[in-house]
Amino acid sequence: MVHNRLLALTMMLGLTLLGRAQAQTKQLVIKPGERWLDNHGEVINAHGGGLLFSKGTYYWFGEKRGKTASEGVNVYSSKDLSHWKNEGLALSQSTDPSSDITVGCLMERPKVIYNPKTKQYVMWFHLELAGKGYDAARAGVAVSEKPTGPYRFLSSFRPNGNMSRDMTLFVDEDGSAYHMYSSQDNYDLRVVKLTDDYLGATTQDSLLFSAHREAPAIFKRNNRYYLITSGCTGWAPNAASVHEASSIYGPWKLVGDPMQGPAAKTTFGGQSTYVQPIHGKPDAFLFMADRWNPQDLKDSRYLWLPISFENDRPVIRWADQWELNVSSKGR
Ligand code: DGJ
Repeated sequence: MVHNRLLALTMMLGLTLLGRAQAQTKQLVIKPGERWLDNHGEVINAHGGGLLFSKGTYYWFGEKRGKTASEGVNVYSSKDLSHWKNEGLALSQSTDPSSDITVGCLMERPKVIYNPKTKQYVMWFHLELAGKGYDAARAGVAVSEKPTGPYRFLSSFRPNGNMSRDMTLFVDEDGSAYHMYSSQDNYDLRVVKLTDDYLGATTQDSLLFSAHREAPAIFKRNNRYYLITSGCTGWAPNAASVHEASSIYGPWKLVGDPMQGPAAKTTFGGQSTYVQPIHGKPDAFLFMADRWNPQDLKDSRYLWLPISFENDRPVIRWADQWELNVSSKGR
């Protein structure tokens, strides 16, 4: 029974079960919501995170959290999406009280993209200034020559004057990069095209829809864009939704809640953070969410599940565990 479900999930991902001869491919069991340990046996501390695939390695960037404090941005590396090496703090908070990222600030939902023209890794994150709650509503930008950092903080701002809280980054096939962000006290979801060096926002800045949504996670399949978001209920989980569009600027059409299974109506107790295309598997996408624990944020859990498609609509089914086969080859 369990084996059959694993097999079904594996097939949904468009992946094949292994023959023993396929030495380059590993079978990995992902257990959503369970404690996930790094190479030192420590619980992985990378919340509200995102992945970057570069030269055969996945990098997982996320919020380093104390019980409630924001302690910078952690980075982990992995060849197989299952075994994660702790690479330490990618972006530290500053001890300079005049810095935007002085200790006490909030750094949330960090995402990193690579710019082939400048050969730089560029991190954007949601920044709240120390002592100001969630009032600053800014985007922060940092840069590094190496994926694991250390990243140098460059600036923080409101793109084109718009409040910017929950966010993600997306690089399209033509190399254009975008920052998608919750704005106007989270009532609006907006997208702004980044400058060619990915370090700033252009004035190409559009409202996508006003539906009081946050936690955006975007991906592209067969020339269509899919955007998973959550409602706005603080750390408490709520129902997810998917919007679909043929242009990143819209129009975006609401296509419903992609979650299926027990607790689907609360995104299985979690909140979207990122969707990662699996390298070398054209139709395989990994959905990442956080099951927040506001009493002890560092112990918030990760919900990673495969996305399948029914009539081109994304479906995310709960599984206590599932198998991911990842080739260790890649660029
Ligand atoms: C919901 C957001 O999605 C999280 O990233 C975080 O900002 C919490 N709100 C804080 O309540």
